[in-house]
Amino acid sequence: MPASLTVNLGERSYPIRFDLDLTDEVRQCVEQLTAAGRKVVVVTDRHVADTQKERLAAMFGATPVRLAPPGESSKSVPEFGRVLDFLAAEGLDRGGVLFALGGGVVGDLGGFAAASYLRGIDYYQVPTTLLAMVDSSVGGKTGINLRAGKNLAGAFHQPRGVFIATDFLRTLSEREFAAGAAEVIKYGLLGDAGLLAELESARLSAARADLPAIIRRCCAIKARIVEADEREEAKEGGRALLNLGHTFGHATPICTARRWRSGSAPPPGCRASSAIWARPRWPGWRRSWPPRPCRPGCACPFSCPRCWRRWAGTRRSGPVRPASSFLSRSARPWFAPGSPRPWSRLAGAKSARLTRRHVRNRRRHCPGVF
Ligand SMILES: NC(=O)c1ccc[n+]([C@@H]2O[C@H](COP(=O)([O-])OP(=O)(O)OC[C@H]3O[C@@H](n4cnc5c(N)ncnc54)[C@H](O)[C@@H]3O)[C@@H](O)[C@H]2O)c1
Repeated sequence: MPASLTVNLGERSYPIRFDLDLTDEVRQCVEQLTAAGRKVVVVTDRHVADTQKERLAAMFGATPVRLAPPGESSKSVPEFGRVLDFLAAEGLDRGGVLFALGGGVVGDLGGFAAASYLRGIDYYQVPTTLLAMVDSSVGGKTGINLRAGKNLAGAFHQPRGVFIATDFLRTLSEREFAAGAAEVIKYGLLGDAGLLAELESARLSAARADLPAIIRRCCAIKARIVEADEREEAKEGGRALLNLGHTFGHATPICTARRWRSGSAPPPGCRASSAIWARPRWPGWRRSWPPRPCRPGCACPFSCPRCWRRWAGTRRSGPVRPASSFLSRSARPWFAPGSPRPWSRLAGAKSARLTRRHVRNRRRHCPGVF
């Protein structure tokens, strides 16, 4: 029997279902919608469509599918336009329904298309990465990137339901799994010390039988936060807590020339911001940036609490300061345009070659910020 959780947002409330395999449930949902005369379409990416061919067919049958290229580049204005054109070409009216099957990229892209097409149609999230299961599929934040920066265009548009089937994770690469594991640990820090202790005793892996239960605990924390501050309007705490470590963390892929994924952002982000918060004159940066694995041979640098604590600068028994509010404030002066060469300091002046690469990457990816 699948476990369930409701995100309580009045008339926008919706259920999240958790199990190893939810193929039958998704198929039934599609059949019910179709029987009610509603046109259903799927948005996914090519990689997911290849690795999950049988499940895609079992869930959606002959439903029209839009295949986006895999990866962050799909969260772009041109791809967004192509998805909207696809919805129009399929003749969706306001009763149309979109299923976003994939990681956070497909969820954000498909969700934003659903929010915009005919001023909003219904959509369901079927996440296939750990990051999407514990974070991006819940809460209704949708969006795409602009040349000026990440997630700069988007909408709050809650899904009608979320189907979290952990069997999808069996084909996920270790790197992508690690990116999601970092988010799981983030939820431990935000509101579940017991979860942190459990993760420490047994490493998180796609084969763990209690994975759906762990994901459910993360979603429950996120649901509580979203219910209290759906549109991230609270001045203190609120939904901004979910950005724990992200202010600096989003620089991680740029700083490490994309060797590390943005999903791995929170731990080094926490570490760097703790350093700058404690000693704004920069010595902390030298030790905390660019991020490195916690110990030689650690395959997924941020997927164990030990790595996390190192980067987050926290101790298990010590208090954890909710970092997000002070992060942004303290980071801003250093990243403001015209501030004295923040990036070369950020790189710890490691070498001129590295610094040049950082500057190049920084200009390419965040021209508006840096
Ligand atoms: N909306 C939100 O609240 C929110 C929260 C956190 C992150 N995000 C966004 O999520 C995005 C990152 O999401 P992500 O880490 O899931 O990346 P992703 O969607 O790019 O997926 C990573 C890779 O894994 C592949 N993949 C997905 N599922 C697979 C599976 N089951 N088996 C094999 N391969 C699979 C994809 O094809 C892709 O190549 C970022 O753009 C971020 O901004 C959004």
